[in-house]
Amino acid sequence: KYVMLTKIAFSPIFEEHNKSVVTEFILLGLSSSQELQLVLFIVFSVFYGAAVLGNILIILTVITDSRLHSPMYFLLSNLSFIDVCQATFATPKMIADFLSERKTITFQGCMSQIFFLHVFGGSEMVLLVAMAYDRYIAICRPLHYLAIMSRRVCTVLVVVSWAIGILHSASHLAFTVDLPFCGPNKVDSFFCDLPLVTKLACRDTYVISLLIVADSGFLSLSSFLLLVVSYTVILITVRSRSSASMAKARSTLTAHITVVILFFGPCIFIYVWPFSSYSVDKVLAVFYTIFTPILNPVIYTLRNKEVKAAMSKLKSRYLKPGQFSVVIRNALFLQSK
Ligand SMILES: *[C@@H]1O[C@H](CO)[C@@H](O)[C@H](O)[C@H]1NC(C)=O
Repeated sequence: KYVMLTKIAFSPIFEEHNKSVVTEFILLGLSSSQELQLVLFIVFSVFYGAAVLGNILIILTVITDSRLHSPMYFLLSNLSFIDVCQATFATPKMIADFLSERKTITFQGCMSQIFFLHVFGGSEMVLLVAMAYDRYIAICRPLHYLAIMSRRVCTVLVVVSWAIGILHSASHLAFTVDLPFCGPNKVDSFFCDLPLVTKLACRDTYVISLLIVADSGFLSLSSFLLLVVSYTVILITVRSRSSASMAKARSTLTAHITVVILFFGPCIFIYVWPFSSYSVDKVLAVFYTIFTPILNPVIYTLRNKEVKAAMSKLKSRYLKPGQFSVVIRNALFLQSK
């Protein structure tokens, strides 16, 4: 009985899919020149490796060093986790595609790229707001900091940011999956993103484009406004007290604000003006899939003495010359078994 019910409930979706003939999309990539492809292959491999290693290093440092067990660093390592995901959902395929002639992606693959892009992007925005809130409490209400930013509140902030990301993305996909794709299948980018894919549908997508703008635009603009307001309040507070401890707060703030601008600049440009030129969008897409994931570790970490000290401790603990060779020997031993 239940099987029957599910079949009836989902049959409209299946029929809609049967009507559309596109089963795979062709990704045009970043460039069509052969020599450039090889250069891009090398450059992006290096950037991708740096982004993943840098962020994993941050997560390991925060987890292993008990002096970094504070809300600010928990949120930072959660940001690094999102960055690893953000860098990984499309970039490895793009890197492999640099070397292949036919750059195709299945319909399902394309839809999942759209889904993950918006899950990670949306969660990262909300998490940046949570990090700004954390700094606001730390600087503007320092005496209540530990009471307000308890472990539980921290976990709630992380869970809420993932929940908003997933809901936001699911609402986007609901508009897109049902679109009829009946012929055109060339996506002019290196991964599937909404404005480019809806453009290929055989139906007037003006209303859907507006819905996408409303949805993504609402999320990014409201997070951006919240960030602007909270950093403005923080900066005014910092200015009014000029002690030595505020100098440290100021350098942390500079890092946060740089990341916010670099993250939101491209997003707002692509989604709030989706009718703008698509070739500009393609370059901006590189920005938020590769450059922001690298910039976060660089900006947040290299300027931060506590993190640097913790990292060198981690290094001396795990990479003593003698120990390192033992690790290698064990690894080889396990391999041969
Ligand atoms: C994310 O934040 C939670 C809540 O504070 C923390 O327990 C957890 O360790 C963090 N996760 C990562 C990967 O850093």
